[in-house]
Amino acid sequence: MTIGIPKEIKNNEYRVSLTPEHVAILSTLHKIIVQQGAGIGSGFSDIAYKDAGATLVETIKEVYDYADLIVKVKEPLPEEYPFIQAKHTIFTFFHFASSETLTRAMQQSGATCIAYETVENTAGNLPLLTPMSEVAGRLAGQQAAKYLEKPQGGSGILVGGVTGVPPAKIMVLGGGVVGTNATDVLVGMRADVFVFDISENRLDELVSLFDRKITPVIANKENIEKYLPQMDAVIGAVLVKGAKAPKLISKKMLSLMRPHTVLVDVAVDQGGCFETTRPTTHENPTYTVDNILHYAVANMPGAVPYTSTKALSRATFPYLMELLSTSLNNLDDMFKKGINTYKGHITNKEVAQAFQLPYTPLSNILD
Ligand SMILES: NC(=O)c1ccc[n+]([C@@H]2O[C@H](COP(=O)([O-])OP(=O)(O)OC[C@H]3O[C@@H](n4cnc5c(N)ncnc54)[C@H](O)[C@@H]3O)[C@@H](O)[C@H]2O)c1
Repeated sequence: MTIGIPKEIKNNEYRVSLTPEHVAILSTLHKIIVQQGAGIGSGFSDIAYKDAGATLVETIKEVYDYADLIVKVKEPLPEEYPFIQAKHTIFTFFHFASSETLTRAMQQSGATCIAYETVENTAGNLPLLTPMSEVAGRLAGQQAAKYLEKPQGGSGILVGGVTGVPPAKIMVLGGGVVGTNATDVLVGMRADVFVFDISENRLDELVSLFDRKITPVIANKENIEKYLPQMDAVIGAVLVKGAKAPKLISKKMLSLMRPHTVLVDVAVDQGGCFETTRPTTHENPTYTVDNILHYAVANMPGAVPYTSTKALSRATFPYLMELLSTSLNNLDDMFKKGINTYKGHITNKEVAQAFQLPYTPLSNILD
């Protein structure tokens, strides 16, 4: 099998899919093609990949031409679509439910698309999304604190307050991996954190994890509307596996908030949980709607590539080894949940539903 590692082309995306350390193990069994400069942004030189046994090529086209299995970080962008063919298996983050264009392009290519974010483990967790959610969650806490500063467009509240002046009040919507890590950073900075989730059990766990330093709230429209007027920042961190994020804050609800409240929508990669969310980039991360500051960068971990690349490569590597050692049909059932398109069919129900496209169960078509 020939494995291709292209250089990421999304705005300010400095991650690379595999470290030279993991390439060195794979290259004893497989041919590895790495695009020149793919690892530079994460601190890995071309020489390091060469020494690990990879063949370096100049262009992204050569990577797709020579390789059958493409291992990436972010979803292919329109300029990559023409390179993708039925012979390819593409292992990367896709977040299909946020883009009909991407979904149709990959379906039409006939490629096998395995999405990191829908691979599950036996506990029902998302082992390939988790490391990036940890990073994005921690960054979300940092970004909320930063954008509360006046010169950044915020209301000028110091997140942790000082003696005699109370800290910022921050709503975290969703107490999963992103929400927990954002809360960890914000509690560490002494913010007053309100975590909202639909799961009472999860809220109980968080209260215990944070030693009662947070306020747990059941997530429903009534409670969100009740708490919003007091908040200085809101972090969107909900997820319904594979599906479009539920819209928890409508445009109309922005009027309940104080001017310059900061919204950080981490769930933007699944379409966002605020109605007014639109994806932004690290270059231009924020915009304002009705006096409310929005931050919605869809590749937050790309800002800290040194940490993110190592964490991602560590998580995907065992799955890659499994993928290379057996047929798709013999993969573990929880790993198979990652297969979103196969031979021109959409094999993930939530993705098909998101765009009213036909859904084909994988078991009906897998050879
Ligand atoms: N922007 C980025 O760079 C970036 C990076 C990593 C992850 N993400 C995204 O962040 C989001 C969260 O990921 P995660 O790993 O924390 O997911 P998770 O599954 O660990 O947690 C999601 C939480 O949301 C809760 N939830 C679901 N529906 C809800 C609702 N209606 N109201 C309140 N809570 C609800 C669930 O109970 C769960 O606790 C995902 O969309 C993920 O793709 C974005």
